[in-house]
Amino acid sequence: MTTTNVGYWSELAEIHSRGDSYPVRQVIDGGSTLRSVERDLLGDPAGRRLFHAHCHIGLDTVSLARLGFTVTGADYSPAAVHHARRIAAEAGVQNCEFVVADSSEPAAAELAGAFDVYYASYGVLVWVPDTNVWFRAAATHLRPGGELVLVDEHPYAATFEGGVASEQPPVSAPYWQSEGPYTTRNGTSYSGDPDVIAHDVQVKWPHALGEILTGAQRSGLRITGLQEYPYSHYRSVPEMTEGTDGYHHHPRWSASVPFLFSLTLRPWHSGGPARSWWSARCRRWRRYGRCAASRAWRSRSTHRANGRRGCC
Ligand SMILES: C[S@@+](CC[C@H](N)C(=O)[O-])C[C@H]1O[C@@H](n2cnc3c(N)ncnc32)[C@H](O)[C@@H]1O
Repeated sequence: MTTTNVGYWSELAEIHSRGDSYPVRQVIDGGSTLRSVERDLLGDPAGRRLFHAHCHIGLDTVSLARLGFTVTGADYSPAAVHHARRIAAEAGVQNCEFVVADSSEPAAAELAGAFDVYYASYGVLVWVPDTNVWFRAAATHLRPGGELVLVDEHPYAATFEGGVASEQPPVSAPYWQSEGPYTTRNGTSYSGDPDVIAHDVQVKWPHALGEILTGAQRSGLRITGLQEYPYSHYRSVPEMTEGTDGYHHHPRWSASVPFLFSLTLRPWHSGGPARSWWSARCRRWRRYGRCAASRAWRSRSTHRANGRRGCC
């Protein structure tokens, strides 16, 4: 299934990197593809290292580097990474690099625990089979005190798959994870490029909002913010029109439908000792542990003393 999707994304990378529908030239010439939601959530770039997952052809990655982050962009499509590297080189941006990587796999040794921010946006979880695995893998990239920022299509709006114009929101894709995966058939790109593509079948996984939050919580990260937005990053329903803010707005449903959501997370310990699976290398973990009863962090020797008193 993943091979099917990598083929699809590699074909789209070839088409999008031509720059007919994607603003490749504008980014090379110094422009930015970042929008207000992520700019607000990502905060001050100064001195911070950012991992950009699902980076596609790297337009957001280059924009993030220009903003001042030191960025590593990653995508599982070798073609996407090839074009991302080319575009970054043409743009003359030095503080970004790219790797081919599957976001459901833990960080490679040289990237583990190395980032202040793990960021992914606009077309992420619907391509991921298991959100628990995804959040855990994401957390392995973060240094203690780091933050995960996710901006994605709202799972409710994702049920309008292949969106048809109608008075009421139509539902044509499942909402619950237990119903997936499902396949869609698109012979051209969502970008509007007219090219007919050979990889016209896509496999997608629905994830209800509760399932996403539960997966996030179980990854060893603490949810610090959840927001929903009445506009979309693409024309998910035909009647939508693009506003000057770069988002697509629906003339009637905006009052009642969430199209995007964002999620921010931090390691539980922020400033304290780390949880085991995402920072096994953390030296503090050898000295500290979490008390099962009070959930407080205590040194190992305190645990032993408390254990004798029946607390830990
Ligand atoms: C809609 S694009 C995301 C847009 C992107 N945020 C940007 O900056 O333009 C989806 C990207 O996610 C990538 N992708 C999907 N599943 C992935 C996975 N499991 N691991 C890594 N990349 C993945 C695809 O190859 C594709 O390039």
